[in-house]
Amino acid sequence: MDKTDFIWMNGKLVKWDDAKIHVLVHALHYGSGVFEGVRFYNTDKGPAVFRLKEHIARLLKSAKVFEMNVPYSQEQLEKATLETIAKNKINAGYIRPIIFFGYGKMGLNPVGAPVDTVIAVWPWGSYLGEEAVKVKISKYMRIHPKSLVSDAKVTGHYVNSILASLEAKAAGFEECLLLDFTGNIAEGPGENLFVVKKKKLFTPPLGNILPGITRDSIMKIAKDLGYEIEEKVISVKEAKSADECFFTGTAAEVTGIKQIDDVTIGNGEVGPITKQLKSAFLDVVKGKNKKYESWLSYARK
Ligand SMILES: Cc1ncc(COP(=O)(O)O)c(C=O)c1O
Repeated sequence: MDKTDFIWMNGKLVKWDDAKIHVLVHALHYGSGVFEGVRFYNTDKGPAVFRLKEHIARLLKSAKVFEMNVPYSQEQLEKATLETIAKNKINAGYIRPIIFFGYGKMGLNPVGAPVDTVIAVWPWGSYLGEEAVKVKISKYMRIHPKSLVSDAKVTGHYVNSILASLEAKAAGFEECLLLDFTGNIAEGPGENLFVVKKKKLFTPPLGNILPGITRDSIMKIAKDLGYEIEEKVISVKEAKSADECFFTGTAAEVTGIKQIDDVTIGNGEVGPITKQLKSAFLDVVKGKNKKYESWLSYARK
C-alpha cells in the first residue's frame, strides 16, 4: 500500500509510521470495530470526497450496534476527514475511518473499553480492474441478519467476505457473490449487485445486505437517465440469464461482470448500460455533473 504522511488518531494528526496500537486492543481479538470505505477524487476545485455525509452517518449508525460512546460528532468527523486529506496533499484516493474498542479491557463484553477513532487516507486506484470480472457463487452464505447486523459495517462481519474471496480466488475467479439465507443473491464481499434485463435494472432489496452508498447513487443516476429500477429478490438463475450484471461499491465503483460460475453474461464484455452508468458515475464523482454537486465535499476551501 502507498503510504501518506499523516493519519488522524483520536483528534490528532500523527505521522503515518507512528499511528500504532497495542496488540491487546479489544477489536483485534473480537472484531469489535466499525469502519467505512470512502473515496475522494480530483476535481477542478481540488480533491472532493464523494458522499462524505452519508459515509460518516453510516459509520456512526454502525457504532450504535456496539453502543459505542463515540467522542466525535458527525460534523467533527467530516471536518477531520477533509483536514487529513488536505494535510497529506494528495488529490485522489481512499479514506478509511475506523472506530474500535481499544486497549485496556479483555473479555467479550466491551463495556468499559476505550473507544479509538482513526482516519487514514492513501492513494488507491481501481479495485477490481477496468475489465469485466469473473464471479463465483460462493459456498459461504452471506451473514444471517438474525446472527449479525447486516446493514452495519462491522469489522468482524468481514470474516465472511474474506472466506468467500479466498474461495473464489482459489477457484480462478476474480470475485464472488454470496447468497442470503433464502438462497437468493445477497451481494458481493464488498459490493452490491445490479442486473439488467430488457433495459430495466434490478437490485436485491435492503434487509440482508449492506445498504451501499454507491448502490443508492447508481439508482438515482440511472433513474435520472430514464431507466426503470426495481429492488427485488434476484435468483442465481435470473442473474445468470441477465443481459448485463455489474457490481457497485466505493472500492469497485461500477465493475462489469462477464461470467457467473461457468455462464457467460451477455457477450462476455462490459455491457452498454453498465458502460453508460459507469461513465455517468465517474463524471459525477469527478465534479463534472453540476446536478450532483451536493454529493461532493471539498478538502480545500
Ligand atoms: C458487504 C458490502 N456490500 C456492499 C458494499 C458497497 O457499499 P458502498 O457502495 O457504500 O461502498 C460494501 C462496501 O462498503 C460492502 O462491504
